[in-house]
Amino acid sequence: MRLRLTLNGKRVVVIVPSETSLLEALRDHLGVFGVKHGCETGECGACTVLLDGEPVNTCVMLAAQADGKAITTIESIGQHPELGWRRTEGLDPLQQAFVETGAIQCGFCTPAMILAARALLAENPSPSEADVRQALSGVLCRCTGYLKPVQAILRAAAVLRGEPVQSIGAAFLAPPELLSGREPPPESDMSGGGSEVLTRTGILPQIQVTSPPRMWTSVGRPEPKVDAVKLVQGKPAFAADIEMRGMLVAKVLHSTVAHARIKKIDAAKARALPGVAAVLTWKDIPRVIYSTAGQSDPIPGPLDMFSLDEKVRFVGDRVALVAAESEAIAEQAMSLIQVSYDPLPALLDPAEAMKDGAPRLHDEPEYVNFGDSDPSRNLAAHIHIDIGDVERGLAEADRVFEGEYRVPKVQQASIEPHVVVTYWDEDNRLVIRTSTQVPFHVRRQLAPVLGLPAKRIRVIKPRIGGGFGGKQEVMVEDVAAHLTIATGRPVRYETTRAEEFFFARSRHPMRIRMRTGVKRDGTITANEMTVLTDTGAYGCHALTVTGNTGHKGMALYVGDGPYRRSPNIRFYADIVYTNTPPAGAFRGYGVPQGFWAVERHMERVARGLGMDPLEFRMKNTLRAGELHPFSTAWSEGREPRPETINTCGLEECIAQGSAAIGWSEKYGNAGWHRIRGKPHLRRGIGVATVMQGTAIPYLDMGGASIKMNDDGSFNLMVGATDLGTGSDTVLAQQAAEVLGVPLDDIIVYSSDTDFTPFDKGAYASSTTYISGTAVVHAAQKVAERIRWRAARMLGKGGQEAPAQDDIRLADRQAWAPDGRSVTLAEVALNALHHEDQEQIMGVASYVSPSSPPPFAAQFAEVTVDTETGAVTVNRLVMAVDSGVIVNPLTASGQIEGGMTQALGYAVCEEMVYDEAGRAREQNFTDYHIFRSDEMPELQTIFVETIEPSHPFGVKAVAEIPMDGVAPAVGNAVLDACGADVDTIPMTPERVWSALKASRQSSVLSHQEKK
Ligand code: FES
Ligand code: FES
Repeated sequence: MRLRLTLNGKRVVVIVPSETSLLEALRDHLGVFGVKHGCETGECGACTVLLDGEPVNTCVMLAAQADGKAITTIESIGQHPELGWRRTEGLDPLQQAFVETGAIQCGFCTPAMILAARALLAENPSPSEADVRQALSGVLCRCTGYLKPVQAILRAAAVLRGEPVQSIGAAFLAPPELLSGREPPPESDMSGGGSEVLTRTGILPQIQVTSPPRMWTSVGRPEPKVDAVKLVQGKPAFAADIEMRGMLVAKVLHSTVAHARIKKIDAAKARALPGVAAVLTWKDIPRVIYSTAGQSDPIPGPLDMFSLDEKVRFVGDRVALVAAESEAIAEQAMSLIQVSYDPLPALLDPAEAMKDGAPRLHDEPEYVNFGDSDPSRNLAAHIHIDIGDVERGLAEADRVFEGEYRVPKVQQASIEPHVVVTYWDEDNRLVIRTSTQVPFHVRRQLAPVLGLPAKRIRVIKPRIGGGFGGKQEVMVEDVAAHLTIATGRPVRYETTRAEEFFFARSRHPMRIRMRTGVKRDGTITANEMTVLTDTGAYGCHALTVTGNTGHKGMALYVGDGPYRRSPNIRFYADIVYTNTPPAGAFRGYGVPQGFWAVERHMERVARGLGMDPLEFRMKNTLRAGELHPFSTAWSEGREPRPETINTCGLEECIAQGSAAIGWSEKYGNAGWHRIRGKPHLRRGIGVATVMQGTAIPYLDMGGASIKMNDDGSFNLMVGATDLGTGSDTVLAQQAAEVLGVPLDDIIVYSSDTDFTPFDKGAYASSTTYISGTAVVHAAQKVAERIRWRAARMLGKGGQEAPAQDDIRLADRQAWAPDGRSVTLAEVALNALHHEDQEQIMGVASYVSPSSPPPFAAQFAEVTVDTETGAVTVNRLVMAVDSGVIVNPLTASGQIEGGMTQALGYAVCEEMVYDEAGRAREQNFTDYHIFRSDEMPELQTIFVETIEPSHPFGVKAVAEIPMDGVAPAVGNAVLDACGADVDTIPMTPERVWSALKASRQSSVLSHQEKK
């Protein structure tokens, strides 16, 4: 079809097949990459454009429907403010506001959000917060929690109306003493000027600073992200945003049965189809066992997977790989592959899979064990940890509380699916451009699978549209790579949204039993957790995810008095294969599962003892100066080493969080729990205390390299992988602080195995801490050379040379104590062109001997409809000790987005399989993630401590917001109406059933010992 469009003000003609969607026409035929693919069903909104001024989803429109119409994409809005001698209009106010407020994390949804907002503001220049949330409700964001995008749009509206707005950085430039207890800016700063109350949300997180004043100029500032300007313009920054001549489209044919041997597979008809370049089955490629878990060597888990096997182990397992000239041809080719199966009994329940005589999923002779894995018993991993003497502790208890808790399988649901492009470069090296969190692991792990030495593979990580652990899996790269090897041509493989659900990884579902001994005064004498984990068909992250369920969840409660000095803790776990899609890494990495059980259980114990839940927790939780109880018992399958907790701000977190949510006025106040005129509604308030870790000690390594340019700017090269978290920005801030330059003098290039130093990748909340320390050490080496040279330059012309160590770097200059200075540009010119020439540069790497835990208190306020069991979460307040906060905008964005994901875990997200092992949820209609217009009020409080093992005192922030929301909401539901729910998500049916049970018996389940 020949279509005429007005695209961003220009007339264009495009010729496409009649079945082409508008999304395909824009991306594949017109090279408009600002419009994104997040699904195929019109549910995520990432593909939004304005069609004659109205927002539309292009993935569900035929290109033909746009014939003769005007299309506006992000590419037509705003320009980079610096484009050489040509004056530019700069960024659009909406784009500018998104940059300034920290509304961009991965940036994958940002073009769609800006276009939706543009349509709103064209109609309504003074929108309310509700109007903005409604306008954004068609664009899903998995990163931000929507708070900052809403604020950005209200701010832009104010700018467009000509109203003054507060500088984001201004509040942070206040004298340090004013920072303590700082409140968000007043409402008027964000208001849209209409008649209603427009917003109750502040741009700046409330920060309680428990540390002395600091004089830093970059660390601690709300700097805009270093990639924000590119992302807000929709530049082709993501893995799929690349045009290559002759690029093929890859598809995977998936198994339709849960467990079977492939009796016969015939691809002849598919191969004969015009436009098909290759079809690969298990017969066509080498049989190399590996693990898809992107982890350091040696991978702490079994090797149990092949790129293609003659056996399938879940509905969705790989059967064949296809490469064709177009997606439509690839789909047709898949339908022509004839497969017949020899079915085997399918195991869908981990308890059944462990039974004697159960069919065996992994009988391949190549299987490589790790630790206690035992494929003859369908056991991917087993954990057996005893700290102290649990039996003695239980015997010494006055009461023993028992309970069983369940958590579901849930999906990471990054809006950008997995995507990879592979091609041979001019040296016949294989280039893998991929949306990965672990580029260096991809190269190392795939080399044997592809039959290439690692040195002949280059892995490039462009921007990533969210990962959340799902892209810590080497899951798609081999698909495209095998097809490039087979065809010699570039290949793109991009998963569909349905594949994300039935083929990609997910959070491990678990059944968790708790047994806790307590004295009458609330002292915990022993604490025991027993876990049954369903790892699915492959053991990706099987040992380490469940290990962390105990390692973090069970470490928080050590007891009091003599038990505090010598806690009694038991953690046993079986991680079992079933014929369901494999689970893997998901933000929080086993810890949210653990804290659902631990924090619901502790609430039952506290209430059973008649104690205040806050007081009970503070009596028994870990404190600074104490040994991490698991540090001598377990270290992700490696040798454990003792580790002391240096900092713990939990007590202050509880104080700040409870004050913010009004705990003392609400908890135990019968009047507050009731709502006048609505007897079926009950309010409730709940808390959960949590901890995480910061990297894996003695293992996680990050490298950094910094070189000075002749204008005094710096290239910072890191292997660390920014997946939207802002890690490039906070690493650059640490370099800028050491080098005395503004942030935009640091040019960051991250994650390219050819050009950046090694980094283990983005996981375990480690980048700011591990890679950050490497950056600081590299910057210090650079600073040393600058000081040496500056001292020599200042000593010229008969002047006295200052001592090198006395020179201070600030404001792009090297300062002597007497006030003389040379600019860094002068130092750079001197070094590169004038005198004893050298390239000033520094390289460093860092491995930490410790994993300092962040701590947090999570509060929730809910309303429960006692007639239907429906839970409305009204407010979430999280007070976090993440050490020193390098960037309050990006850090609070992590907390807001994490709390939102965790809220889905609490109340609505769940993956279920039918009796044949088929996934029930395969799209964003059946699998609901929170929309902008459904969000509760979010509040973040940072309680800063100074972690001595990091140069600026930081700890982790990225994962801890996943841990406490579900139990805090569960405890709030209990507080509201007595429904004691043990399984998430807390659907209306589950709450209603628990409510009925609680009415029948208000006695909590426990065993009276004496
Ligand atoms: S709505 Fe079109 S890509 Fe998701
Ligand atoms: S910033 Fe919205 S999906 Fe990542």
